Amino acid sequence: MKVPFNKPYLPLSSLRYMVRSAFSGTIAGNGKFTERCHTFFEDEFGFRKVLLTTSCTDALEMAALLTEIRPGDEVILPSFAFMSNANAFLLRGARLVFADTMERFPLIDPDQIEQLITPATRVIMAVHYSGLACDMERITEIAGRHNLLVVEDAAHAVEAYYNDEPLGSLGHLGTFSFHETKNITCGEGGMLAVNHTPFMGRAEHIWEKGTNRAAFQRGEVEAYRWIDTGSSFLPSDALAALLYTQLRRLRRIQRRRKWIWWEYHERLAPLEEKGWLQRPVIPEHATVNGSMFYITLKDQATRDNLLHFLNDRGIRAVTHYFPLHSSPYFAGKHDGRELPNTDRFSATLLRLPFYYRLKTKKIAFIVQKIREFFES
Ligand SMILES: Cc1ncc(COP(=O)(O)O)c(C=O)c1O
Repeated sequence: MKVPFNKPYLPLSSLRYMVRSAFSGTIAGNGKFTERCHTFFEDEFGFRKVLLTTSCTDALEMAALLTEIRPGDEVILPSFAFMSNANAFLLRGARLVFADTMERFPLIDPDQIEQLITPATRVIMAVHYSGLACDMERITEIAGRHNLLVVEDAAHAVEAYYNDEPLGSLGHLGTFSFHETKNITCGEGGMLAVNHTPFMGRAEHIWEKGTNRAAFQRGEVEAYRWIDTGSSFLPSDALAALLYTQLRRLRRIQRRRKWIWWEYHERLAPLEEKGWLQRPVIPEHATVNGSMFYITLKDQATRDNLLHFLNDRGIRAVTHYFPLHSSPYFAGKHDGRELPNTDRFSATLLRLPFYYRLKTKKIAFIVQKIREFFES
């Protein structure tokens, strides 16, 4: 039996919306479907302003522009993160200060943030890995005390909450991904949630090449002009149409994905009891949004051997996140601090296949193969 790591969920109705978009006369950005997606997120989750982007990477780059990072400003971010978290700010000349994760969760450690703050610190980045909420109460409290901006990377965190509050809505800015591996997808896509009122107008200008074209499209001005710096961050409306199909099915998608997550969780419980592996630990304030399922093993050799064992049997499990602080690009630039929790998560974490149409039979097969690995 072959089990791919991911299979994007593309219902047939996606084509209907895409065709409708193609014949509507607008397949450039900021058309009807973009507006529908924006309205959906604002109504469903109470985001005050959202802008679709071509990727989460782009949303992070918009965040770096909005926070007006200048060369020498410091950004505190987890090393257990994606390179876009780092690149977006590095491109603006920031000094990256990598923090470790907590011992039990692959999430940035607020104690470390506190220790790493200097007069040059401007931004704290919280990455809600696998949709698990970082400790936002402490992070926003620290940020408030030091007058810092908070960017939440909610790339994995659609329909995930910190207590009752949607992730992406708690920092000054929140970024989302609709890449094909995410809960909802349009192939490549993303979104910026703008929660800080002073950023709202400017965000729209940066989104549209530094112009007031969005206001022009709403009929508020006669012509659009170059009024700020910016780039082209908006996706084609055909992609927004694809995304909208999934938003209409968000409840169903989420129900299914959460069910898969708990199915893995339950079936792997006896293996955890034997001490073979650990299932994700969920912080008290966090929820499960079915973005991915990972296990952690006792050491790297066990993880790598299990990875090869599963891959050889047609099960595409994968590792996740090499630490950024010791990456080939950054190792020489890091300040030398050890980040042991990051190293441990990176060395021992294994992601299991996860997609909407993953059937019980396949989950049972994967768990059975993991059991065979430990019994062999
Ligand atoms: C935490 C995090 N942020 C950002 C990204 C980049 O997302 P995108 O591929 O939409 O640019 C990823 C990629 O998966 C990610 O894991």
